[in-house]
Amino acid sequence: MSDISRRDFINLVKKGLAATGLTALLAPFVAYFYPPSLEEKPSEPVRVARVEDIPAGESLTIPFGRYPAIVIHTEEGLKAYSAVCTHFSCIVKWNSSDNTLYCPCHEGYFEPLQGEVISGPPPLPLEKIPLSIENGEIFIGGAA
Ligand code: FES
Repeated sequence: MSDISRRDFINLVKKGLAATGLTALLAPFVAYFYPPSLEEKPSEPVRVARVEDIPAGESLTIPFGRYPAIVIHTEEGLKAYSAVCTHFSCIVKWNSSDNTLYCPCHEGYFEPLQGEVISGPPPLPLEKIPLSIENGEIFIGGAA
């Protein structure tokens, strides 16, 4: 078995770093053109919480299949969206101080009633998720 030369080792490390860097550079572009979809969402409705667990003006983020969902108690009632930003798929957060959904990655803002983009780079609104209430329990997804 031959020993690896110092030069070969350095070349191997360089190639590994180049491949890693290239992957890191290309991943956002791939995510932009092939955004995650909710096709991997649960087929059955998912229980979120009891209605009183999300007071007016507050939100709750829960696992929803492969991606999280966010439920917001707005002035027009409860709304549910995919929490995946339509820009580069970061997870949006609820900002109760100004009633917006906020993506911390690139300063994307969405309004809470329809999920429409207010400002920033997201190209599309947040994806709505059907929501229903049964016996005081909130459910999202499925045929709700
Ligand atoms: Fe949300 Fe860029 S990923 S604004």
